[in-house]
Amino acid sequence: MLKIKYIGHSAFQFKDGQNDIIIDPFITGNPVAKTKVEEIKSKYIILTHGHSDHFGDTLSLVKQNDAEVIAINELANNLSARGIKAYNMNIGGAYHFPFGKVKFTIAHHSSADDQGMYLGNPAGVIVNIAGKNIYHCGDTGLFYDMKLIGEMQKIDVMIVPIGDYFTMGIDDAVKAVQFVNPKLAIPSHYNTYPIITQDGNEFKDKVNAIGIDCKIMNIDEEIQLM
Ligand code: NI
Ligand code: MN
Repeated sequence: MLKIKYIGHSAFQFKDGQNDIIIDPFITGNPVAKTKVEEIKSKYIILTHGHSDHFGDTLSLVKQNDAEVIAINELANNLSARGIKAYNMNIGGAYHFPFGKVKFTIAHHSSADDQGMYLGNPAGVIVNIAGKNIYHCGDTGLFYDMKLIGEMQKIDVMIVPIGDYFTMGIDDAVKAVQFVNPKLAIPSHYNTYPIITQDGNEFKDKVNAIGIDCKIMNIDEEIQLM
């Protein structure tokens, strides 16, 4: 059994009854998030890249939960230098953690902190937990190698940015879903700020039209996969 909770923007929590992990925990300053940082119990934090709308509350959560961070080498090393336990993975590499397997994929984007310090390449991530493969695309433009990602493993859930401006917009995101061919697509990274306003239903209709299920998750909604 796997529970996926949408915190808002690009932040999702995965829970299998024993383990609790969070991706891109941007809560404080996130205009749409309702969850309180103090309520998050995640022991692992996966970061797709260093932008502040993804790095978010990482430092508070590390302190609060004695959490460990899984990220791309440069971002992880930056955290390690601050005394944080961080796994410095890189694109194409996978590793078995106590909760499951994590593999980083390419993403076409950038990665730096708000002061402009370079934090390595941005990434997407495939998390295998509770027998499910979840592909969180991170922030990215459309790329044809997504087809390869879908060919190499059956993706159960694809979390795909549709906001445009910083990432794919709806039509590119639909093409991305077609390339990956997941069982279920979940839109993310939209309607957080006016500049990334999108109609989730338009995305859903277009994904359904290519024969793939789509779930628009409300803030703090939790879905359960058997
Ligand atoms: Ni970004
Ligand atoms: Mn972003």
